[in-house]
Amino acid sequence: MTAARGRLEVLLQQAIERARSHPSASPAILDRVVAGRYEDGSPMPDGTIRDNMITSLIAGQESSVASLCWCFYWLHRERRCLDLLLQELEPLGPDADPMAWASLPYLDAVVKETLRLWPRATEIYRLLAQPMRLGRHELPAGTNIAAAPAILHYDPDLYPDPDSFQPERFLKRRFGPHEFLPFGGGERLCPGAHLSVFEVKIVLATLLTRFRYTLLDEGPLTVRRMVALRAPHTGVRMRVDAVVAR
Ligand code: HEM
Repeated sequence: MTAARGRLEVLLQQAIERARSHPSASPAILDRVVAGRYEDGSPMPDGTIRDNMITSLIAGQESSVASLCWCFYWLHRERRCLDLLLQELEPLGPDADPMAWASLPYLDAVVKETLRLWPRATEIYRLLAQPMRLGRHELPAGTNIAAAPAILHYDPDLYPDPDSFQPERFLKRRFGPHEFLPFGGGERLCPGAHLSVFEVKIVLATLLTRFRYTLLDEGPLTVRRMVALRAPHTGVRMRVDAVVAR
């Protein structure tokens, strides 16, 4: 494990040096981080860049996979939603342009509703660098505070019948950043937010346009908690019933 980490650090350092010596005309995440500056004009130290890239690889991969599992689970529990989604996907066929899939409104609503019900982070913490007034509370610097998507996303005033899977709520209205925060918020907002939603949509559309499935675990799933990430404990067991396209 330590040897693998060492090799990864070497590869990342090489990538950092490449990004620095050959700035790209269409910058990706690493190019932007390497070119970025703090408020005082200083660059991010290489060790911090490497840590952030490793966080992106690990945080990003597990979170997107867990969200995909939840999407599969809900769609196959709520066949009405699966049918609506298949109706939307069908005209585009199994080899659609990924950008066309990404702009489908019901697919977008399905991914958002899944992220509402199962936000990866149940709480998003901040350590106050300076005193803050929150409602009638005066909070001193050094206080740990948290926004809790796991509570907010189940507020019945915002999301009527909050335990039910209803992608339509995301078609009826847009939720503000203080109402829907599966990716956190503010300056530390998840940098993978757009990428992961895109990724989940494309994988979902690819698998649903090619195969039909049966959900083998109909009942509530046991949830596993890994640090802040919640995922189905044993995955979501599905059976492939039919091949509809190759
Ligand atoms: C469905 C998938 C994902 C979910 C639900 C998710 C959710 C989150 C949340 C809630 C945070 C904390 C934000 C905050 O403190 O305000 C976070 C941070 C982060 N995420 Fe994601 N994430 C996902 C995918 C990704 C992907 C694909 C990447 C990278 C390519 C990524 C990279 C990161 C990084 C580097 C941070 C730390 C940011 C910082 O502290 O400044 N995430 N993510």
